[in-house]
Amino acid sequence: MKFAFFDTKPYDRPAFEKYGSLHGVSFKFFEAKLNEDTAELARGYDGVCAFVNDTVSPPVIDKLAELGVRVLALRCAGFNNVDMRHAYGRLHVLRVPAYSPYAVAEHAMALLLTSIRRIHKAYIRSRDFNFSLSGLTGFDLHGKTVGVIGTGRIGRVFIDICRGFGMRVLCYDKFPATGLEDGDRIRYVELSELYRKSDVISLHCPLTPETHHLINEESLAACKKGVVLINTSRGALVDAEALLSAIKARQVGAACLDVYEEESDLFFEDNSGHILEDDTLARLISMPNVIVTSHQAFLTEEALENIAETTVRNISDFFARGECENELCWRGTSAEDCKSGKCF
Ligand code: NAI
Repeated sequence: MKFAFFDTKPYDRPAFEKYGSLHGVSFKFFEAKLNEDTAELARGYDGVCAFVNDTVSPPVIDKLAELGVRVLALRCAGFNNVDMRHAYGRLHVLRVPAYSPYAVAEHAMALLLTSIRRIHKAYIRSRDFNFSLSGLTGFDLHGKTVGVIGTGRIGRVFIDICRGFGMRVLCYDKFPATGLEDGDRIRYVELSELYRKSDVISLHCPLTPETHHLINEESLAACKKGVVLINTSRGALVDAEALLSAIKARQVGAACLDVYEEESDLFFEDNSGHILEDDTLARLISMPNVIVTSHQAFLTEEALENIAETTVRNISDFFARGECENELCWRGTSAEDCKSGKCF
């Protein structure tokens, strides 16, 4: 099988070359992102391999289908960049549902600790031999309340980590997990209560039409004053303009963002020599209480290995058996989730 691999970064290649050669899948690595202008590059390939900021819109899907490409192997968990309804009947969409929930959950905690203990400030100061502590006062996580929205694989690991810090956990999920609640320590609540009572809120749900701008002017106003918001899920869960206003109004105490709504043309690339056109992002980055990383939460050695291994296994399963347990249906639900009834 020959696959066109879009949006290649140097760190992608070693694991994909290793697992590809083990399973007879060859990859042609393109640096370009998949979109209407580049879909033609997939001519002559059995499938395409895409990542979070590739655009799999109806025109791209039509073009791939016209080229005879049957399979889209996503090397990520989220699939909000794929028009699943349009893909139905045209492309088989495979994904990697889990590769290291620890990578993302640990990054969320790294951002939180960096932010509230002002590590980003202290690092810069000490490099300049400025050992003053003024302005570096943080707060203990122990005894604080964290609100976790989305209690799937990553959300549950993040809850474990927070419990290790002695935090109380309030959860919200459209499909609550059985067996997760633990007395007063971990409780499912309605979103209104989670907003009202949480000192820290971390987002771990997928981006869907329902969760688009879940964090907006209204929900931010409903939060505890000084709340710390962490988003390692998808940028458009948060209305960035509303977040900026809430930070200026001191309603939000800090924001830790690994993802950003308009990230696709910026993140993963070196833009240091360019003038940033996105004023909202520029203003957010300029805030002393905002930390932005560029969709880095997944980036651990373990995750890269697992992503490559599962993607290649998905491809070889699909071509060997005509099916794959990680194929998404038109609702964006995987075979695994269908078994649990989430599809309905
Ligand atoms: P998962 O599918 O295991 O869990 C998602 C949870 O969200 C499920 O429990 C689901 O019931 C819940 N959910 C669905 N709709 C909801 C709604 N309307 N409101 C509240 N909860 C809802 O997914 P996993 O592996 O935990 O990943 C979560 C998200 O993390 C992914 O969707 C992806 O966007 C993001 N992600 C980010 C990465 C990064 O590098 N920053 C890497 C990997 C994933």
